[in-house]
Amino acid sequence: MCGIVGAVAQRDVAEILINGLHRLEYRGYDSAGLAVVNTACELQRVRCLGKVKALDEAVEKNPLIGGTGIAHTRWATHGEPSEANAHPHVSGDFAVVHNGIIENHEELREMLKARGYVFSSQTDTEVIAHLVEWEMHSAPSLLAAVQSVVRQLTGAYGMVVMNRADPTRLVAARSGSPLVIGLGIGENFLASDQLALLSVTRRFIFLEEGDIAEVTRRTVDIYDVNGNKANRETHESNLENDAAEKGKFRHFMQKEIFEQPTALINTMEGRINHSNVIVESIGNGAKEILEKVEHVQIVACGTSYNSGMVARYWFESLAGVSCDVEIASEFRYRKFVTRPNSLLLTLSQSGETADTLAALRLAKEKGYMAAMTICNVAGSSLVRESDLAFMTRAGVEIGVASTKAFTTQLAAMLILVTAIGKLNGNISAEKEQEIIKALQSVPAEIEKALVFDKTIEKLAEDFAEKNHSLFLGRGEYYPIAMEAALKLKEISYIHAEAYAAGELKHGPLALIDADMPVIVVAPTNDLLEKVKSNIEEVRARGGQLYVFADKEAGFTETAGMKIITMPTVNEITAPIFYTIPMQLLSYHVALIKGTDVDQPRNLAKAVTVE
Ligand code: M6R
Repeated sequence: MCGIVGAVAQRDVAEILINGLHRLEYRGYDSAGLAVVNTACELQRVRCLGKVKALDEAVEKNPLIGGTGIAHTRWATHGEPSEANAHPHVSGDFAVVHNGIIENHEELREMLKARGYVFSSQTDTEVIAHLVEWEMHSAPSLLAAVQSVVRQLTGAYGMVVMNRADPTRLVAARSGSPLVIGLGIGENFLASDQLALLSVTRRFIFLEEGDIAEVTRRTVDIYDVNGNKANRETHESNLENDAAEKGKFRHFMQKEIFEQPTALINTMEGRINHSNVIVESIGNGAKEILEKVEHVQIVACGTSYNSGMVARYWFESLAGVSCDVEIASEFRYRKFVTRPNSLLLTLSQSGETADTLAALRLAKEKGYMAAMTICNVAGSSLVRESDLAFMTRAGVEIGVASTKAFTTQLAAMLILVTAIGKLNGNISAEKEQEIIKALQSVPAEIEKALVFDKTIEKLAEDFAEKNHSLFLGRGEYYPIAMEAALKLKEISYIHAEAYAAGELKHGPLALIDADMPVIVVAPTNDLLEKVKSNIEEVRARGGQLYVFADKEAGFTETAGMKIITMPTVNEITAPIFYTIPMQLLSYHVALIKGTDVDQPRNLAKAVTVE
């Protein structure tokens, strides 16, 4: 939940480090800091409360000179956001940046205090700095000291350690939090995400769990969890340097909403042709696994969980396999029964969500036939640790509020459902063709939904003064309502709840009054008449309704009920289509309210801690 950048170079690195931090702000943005060492072995450190911009300004006033440095953008876990708690933390000659949580920090803190160390922050990270300092009294090298320190730590970390007295090297360790090494010419870098380093290199080595790396200007030496020298592959990134730029858009979220037609084309490319799903494209050995699947257990968090909830309807109604969906933080601590021939399916934009990753690791011990992930980030932990990885290819998603990751996950899952149904005989060639046609229509349909941007901008004015809102849907539209409510609360800070419309009368109806806008997703389908009855229940109690439906649904606008008539689209993929107006609604409400759309308060994009 924090972002790390490090560099060992011959040129001054402060600007590279700060640029990298800007690109990692999606990982946390409550405070930031950097430290550099120059050739005279002088360490300079600057830390600021607030976003990286504050650090930028501070360094502009007092430039830092030095070719070796480490930097950090923080999402507070232990200790409030403050300058004192911002990284890097220093003990003697040693400076440390850390992402993750050291679970035994209290015990270590007591031990270090007894040894005479004085703490200047409330963070768990400071124990690492002091431990390194202590170990260096007897260790032959910084590498050996860090190897000894990590043996004493319980918890999760991605960390980089710098020694003022030896600016020729950095030592990094990874366990539970991602770290990548960027390979330059006569200079090398480290970061939590390759995005941070795209302006300096395209060649990356992804550290694996338990790895410790010693990085100098010209060498990279990696040691595995057992301390043995390890060979890790070098990857050439195909990400563009401007992948993390807003371009003509005002916010990343807006850009990402509008990128969805292209993102979905990319998700489908090579995976379907005009009438078939190409099962082999799902991965090596996919066919052998998928033809045996009798049950799918989806595990995910947040928006990814909501997409799993939509797909559950597809798995059961189209492919005829049972499907459960569970929030990862619940699944991982529950005693569950593994059904025969079950596929564990994790969903994640980042591929680094701590709870989802823990659930995957647990499921591997519990007899699941195979583990598959649907994920957006190549080389991420979920991708590397799963038997099958189906990449969504949504492109970099920076906005904390997930948008294109959701719709591309849905398309990927519909392809998966079709593959399973085709292999188990529940989806006929005719049905397969119908699904393919629906999938192929999605990008153009989304273009049509995006045309509603102005209409929804106007509609958003009704919401800006409200404190609460209710989203309703039935069937696949219930999770679409859940996702809409999550988006609205996350970026506009308006309390938003989603209910299965049929559940309204069992309690939430008591909330209805003129100050509670009720948004209903109600396109034509088998449940429409039921939804209409639920709408009447709200109308009869003076609620203000906003109904998103197609014209065939036959709604007429009346006082207390605004109708947003959407184009008629393919019924199978309509949940993907109806996501778009919901995303636009939350975006415009947030704009009117003036909240920080891309970096909403208290949140971070990649939740790599529990
Ligand atoms: O990277 P993941 O998809 O695993 O992330 C899961 C959630 O943290 C994420 O979807 C979160 O809920 C978003 N901020 C929602 O917009």
